[in-house]
Amino acid sequence: MDPSIATQQASDEFMPSLHVPRCKNRKLTIICLIVIILLGTSLTYQSFIRYFDSIKQSRIYLEEKPLKGNSTSIQRAILIFYPSTQESHYLPEVRWLYRSWLEMMKVESKEWRTDFIIYTEYYSSSLQQLGCVLNEVRMDDTEPPQCRVFPYLRISNRTINSITQRQTVFASSGKSEFFQINTARSIELYREMQKYGYIDSVNIIAEAYPTFQYYDFILKTDIDVFITKQFAKYTPVTKNTFLVGLGGYSTQFNTRRLGRVARDMNWHHPNITNIGSTWYGPPYIAQRIANFTLDAMLHLYIYEFTKAEHEQKVGTILWPDWHYGVLSMYGTHLAVNHLFVSDKFDIKKADQLLDQSTTNKDPFDLQKNNRLHLHCWHTEQPFSKFAFKDGRYNKIHPRTLYNDTSAQAYAMRMALESRLMTVNELGQRLHDIGDDKIAQIKL
Ligand SMILES: *[C@@H]1O[C@H](CO)[C@@H](O)[C@H](O)[C@H]1NC(C)=O
Ligand SMILES: *[C@@H]1O[C@H](CO)[C@@H](O)[C@H](O)[C@H]1NC(C)=O
Ligand SMILES: *[C@@H]1O[C@H](CO)[C@@H](O)[C@H](O)[C@H]1NC(C)=O
Ligand SMILES: *[C@@H]1O[C@H](CO)[C@@H](O)[C@H](O)[C@H]1NC(C)=O
Ligand SMILES: *[C@@H]1O[C@H](CO)[C@@H](O)[C@H](O)[C@H]1NC(C)=O
Repeated sequence: MDPSIATQQASDEFMPSLHVPRCKNRKLTIICLIVIILLGTSLTYQSFIRYFDSIKQSRIYLEEKPLKGNSTSIQRAILIFYPSTQESHYLPEVRWLYRSWLEMMKVESKEWRTDFIIYTEYYSSSLQQLGCVLNEVRMDDTEPPQCRVFPYLRISNRTINSITQRQTVFASSGKSEFFQINTARSIELYREMQKYGYIDSVNIIAEAYPTFQYYDFILKTDIDVFITKQFAKYTPVTKNTFLVGLGGYSTQFNTRRLGRVARDMNWHHPNITNIGSTWYGPPYIAQRIANFTLDAMLHLYIYEFTKAEHEQKVGTILWPDWHYGVLSMYGTHLAVNHLFVSDKFDIKKADQLLDQSTTNKDPFDLQKNNRLHLHCWHTEQPFSKFAFKDGRYNKIHPRTLYNDTSAQAYAMRMALESRLMTVNELGQRLHDIGDDKIAQIKL
């Protein structure tokens, strides 16, 4: 199960269920009315809390930069792990993410740069046609925005030579100078956790630091997401502020249990809960959190999950209390809790800004609440990634969505447009945006 299932299930989990009892006689009716009023008040109270939370998050966690005129240059990158060997499944997501990245850059300051970095097994022809460059790190602030590919060998493919005991760690066209590999840990991850699919999206952040060290901020994200236009003008409030998105795995049971695991590991645990898989912050903090996340995942794997769980024989029956499928979230949980105290990192839970819903129909929501990033949850409501990949939205013309400013319409339009455009056309658009940014500087 992938962590976004967790997000969805858990967010359902936290919704108060409106189970209104049937009222038969008068006494009961009064009690019922009281119950209904109380339920209503608690709902209103909760939506108030949420409302103030999102105001607080946009005002306190973010720095707004002017889109035009004298803004200093900000260098950012969006980072994904993409399994190019499963192209038919994941390429549609890469295309819509790419499309939304272009949409964001149309309104971004000319001085800013946001690259799109893809770590993947090989430099497929689709990636070449998208205009992605191979093995090129950013060298200066003025170079146009680029899509960059760095070949990366997945943990599951890092075989160990039985004679020399040496592990293959680089993809065939991968370059060693772009990686900082902790060899012992890489071997241990391969031996213990090669079947756990969600290790690579954390491991790229731990290992590929030289490829993203240049940037002021990175956005580490899954592929099934959309960058909104709001992302064009907001960065974390300081250069040392690290935002984490919305995750939905915390129950009282696993908060206590993870606290106990932290004690076993001699790590701090200030009870920060529901930490998402999307991170937006400075590269150094991201790498440090990724390093600690991998260590925590190994620890959890060995001491807190049984063989039947490793082999995924238990399914989802322990969810949401304790579930092997969200091991990477538990790992991140332990790392973030520990480093928040030990390294005094300024980590903020931006659960109203990142990993936001693609089903929201409110036309004012994206702008009013500064949603920076949308993440597909497990849903059949539009926009649903399942329905999209099934072709169920193919009859909708993206033009009909132009004037709808809701998150739902934005996601739908980006996805539909990315489907109607060829990879070459998307690449050409990137080229045009780059020319436009550079022309401005030369003026
Ligand atoms: C823009 O920046 C330059 C140099 O930093 C400064 O001299 C100028 O006054 C600024 N212009 C505006 C409109 O803020
Ligand atoms: C990685 O492993 C998979 C499954 O074992 C295999 O199909 C694939 O060819 C391997 N890829 C590389 C680059 O070695
Ligand atoms: C952390 O949360 C758990 C579960 O809600 C609770 O039992 C524990 O007392 C909390 N610990 C701290 C330090 O707040
Ligand atoms: C993360 O681990 C790598 C490999 O061991 C190491 O080179 C790097 O310095 C670590 N990064 C941080 C920020 O601790
Ligand atoms: C969108 O709004 C503009 C201006 O209000 C209008 O001219 C245009 O026809 C609308 N487009 C659609 C597809 O509704």
